This record gives sequence, C-alpha cells and structure tokens, in this order.
Amino acid sequence: MSETLEQKMAGKEVEISHGELAKYRFAPGDVYWVKMNGKLVRLLTVGDYIDREFIQKFTSGNMSLMLDRIINEDYLNDGISILEGMRKGRSIKERASSRTEFIDWLNDVFWSGEKEGSLIDLIILGEKVFFAFEDEFAEKLVSGNTEFFTRSALMGILNVIFAINMGYMDDKLLCDIYNLPFLVDYFMHVDGYAFDLIRALEMERKSSGNGREWLEFKGDKMAEHNMFFEHPDKSARLVLEDCKKYFHSEEMVSLIEKHHERMDGSGFPEGIYESELSDLETLFISVNQAISFKLEFVFGDGKKYLKNIIAAMDEDENEIFSARIRSVFENIFECSKQQENENPEESEAIEYDEDLHELLKESA
Ligand SMILES: [Fe+2]
Repeated sequence: MSETLEQKMAGKEVEISHGELAKYRFAPGDVYWVKMNGKLVRLLTVGDYIDREFIQKFTSGNMSLMLDRIINEDYLNDGISILEGMRKGRSIKERASSRTEFIDWLNDVFWSGEKEGSLIDLIILGEKVFFAFEDEFAEKLVSGNTEFFTRSALMGILNVIFAINMGYMDDKLLCDIYNLPFLVDYFMHVDGYAFDLIRALEMERKSSGNGREWLEFKGDKMAEHNMFFEHPDKSARLVLEDCKKYFHSEEMVSLIEKHHERMDGSGFPEGIYESELSDLETLFISVNQAISFKLEFVFGDGKKYLKNIIAAMDEDENEIFSARIRSVFENIFECSKQQENENPEESEAIEYDEDLHELLKESA
C-alpha cells in the first residue's frame, strides 16, 4: 500500500464484503481490490455504477475489497426512512408530516451545513427509494455512458427534492420525476452516444445555442445537428414506445419534450418562455441545465449544496432557475431555520461555502 493510500485509509472502516457492496447500485466511496502483495487497485470511483458481475470476480478465495467510505450511513438511512414513510403515507396529513421531516433532514446538511453529508448520500437515497428500472434495462442504459447514468441519478433526486419543497407529495409523481432524467436523451442512447453529441450537450448546457451552433458549422455534423435538435421530441416518443411501463403518467413523460427549453426563450425545439411553462416544467428544465456532465464527488460536498445553488442564481446570466423555485427554497429553509432558533434576532448571516460556490458558478 502506498503511503498516500495508507494515510487515506487510516482510522477508517475500510473492509467491505461483496454482500455489503451489492446493496448499492452506486459506489458509496472509492472501492479498491487488495492484491496478494498488499497493493491496492482501484476498481470503482465514488458514484460509479456497480457492475455486480465485475465485482464478483474480485471476491473469490482470499481476495478482499476495501472502501474509502464517502457516505454518511446514519444520515442516509434517516433520509431513506423519511421518504419511504412519505411513500406509504395514507393521508395528506401523513405525507405533509413526512415532508416537514424531510425538509429538516435536508436542512441539516444541504442548506445549513451543520452536519456532514455528501452528494453521494443523495444519489443513493434516490436510488433506494425511487429507482424503477430492472437490472437488465439499467445495464443497457449504463452501457451507453456511465457518467450520464450517475448524472441522471443526481438529477432525479434533485427533481424530487425541488418537487417536495414546492409542495408535490404524490407518490406516483415523485417516482416519475425521479426516473425521467435517465431517459431524457434516450433517442441518442439507442444508437450509442457519439462523443460529439456529448460535447454538444455540455456546450449547450453552459450557454444556450452553443451546442447547436457548433454541430451546425463543424463540417459534416449536420446529421448530428438534426439528431440533436430533434432528440427531445423523439426521446419522449421512444420512451412511450419502449418503456412506458416504468412511468405512471404519459403527461409526465412529455416533460422530456421540454428539457432543453430555457427560461429566457433561447432553448429548443420550441423556444418557449418561462411564462409559458408550468412550475413542474421549470423545475425539470432548471435541474437538467444546472448539473454538469462531468461530475466528481468528494467527502462533504453536500454541505450547503442547495443554499449555494440558490446563491449562484444571483450571478446567473443564463437564467437557469425560475424565480419561482428560488422563492420556494428561500422561504422554506429560512423559515425552518428561524423556527428552530429561539432568538431569531441572533440568527447568523447567510454564509456561503466559497469553494463550492465557485464550483457551482463554473458548472452553471
Ligand atoms: Fe437532452
């Protein structure tokens, strides 16, 4: 084991059995295979989709696996229990009570940053509670692009978080809005994601029109440009043909048609404005636009994550988020904090995590 890894692993509960790892669909930390000579080989990076067959090869005989754990297991389990409680809630009152608990749970890490937690906690939370796809279909999606898949999982749970904050508590709606991001680019997935299309998606995300323009004027890219322009409509249609069974509502699937529209009307294919979009549509579009196609997860990256997203809106020239979403978040979390504080006058001023704030600005 190298000195760096020894230091990294010092004092952590590092051994993980195949059985424990198999409980996860996304790696809860970096996973290493311990070779006979004691050296470590990294098999998975935190957030990677866990291919069970691949991992099985490293668990026979005396071979063992080590995990550099990123997740906060106790915190994560509390979140799972709250959301499962909401799913089982028989009355509006029961679900509303779970909603209040969930907002408090989020507040501890992702708004106030008073507790430790990471984005991988959110990703695993979403997967444990809402993931609807069978293994075979999931593996088909992963084979297109693993980074897309993990990004989709983060988008899915962020959709749920935003929706719950906005007052949506219907179980079927929350399931659908979690699972939709995995299929927003489904039309492009069917033929495999060409590198140029992924590059165009990231360019388009950063600045509306750039991805389309780049494909249009790059010599022989016209076919890809057309595919790119048509993919919101074609993906929605193909999802209804191929995988309708994973969704409760065809109306929800139609959100895919609008995932590249923008608040300022500069999106595609229709170029519609925020005033022509429902709350749910603005939520779906905003999350799709806010999350980079290149993600890296580190310990503690969840602290104040939601607060920083809202703060980043102030400097957001691309108008990623609807003002409607912003006001809902500020009201809910600031009120929640105020209620807990016995003397509201002594409330701390809002402090932003500089590093994460910068990161968010870069990814926006
Ligand atoms: Fe797309």
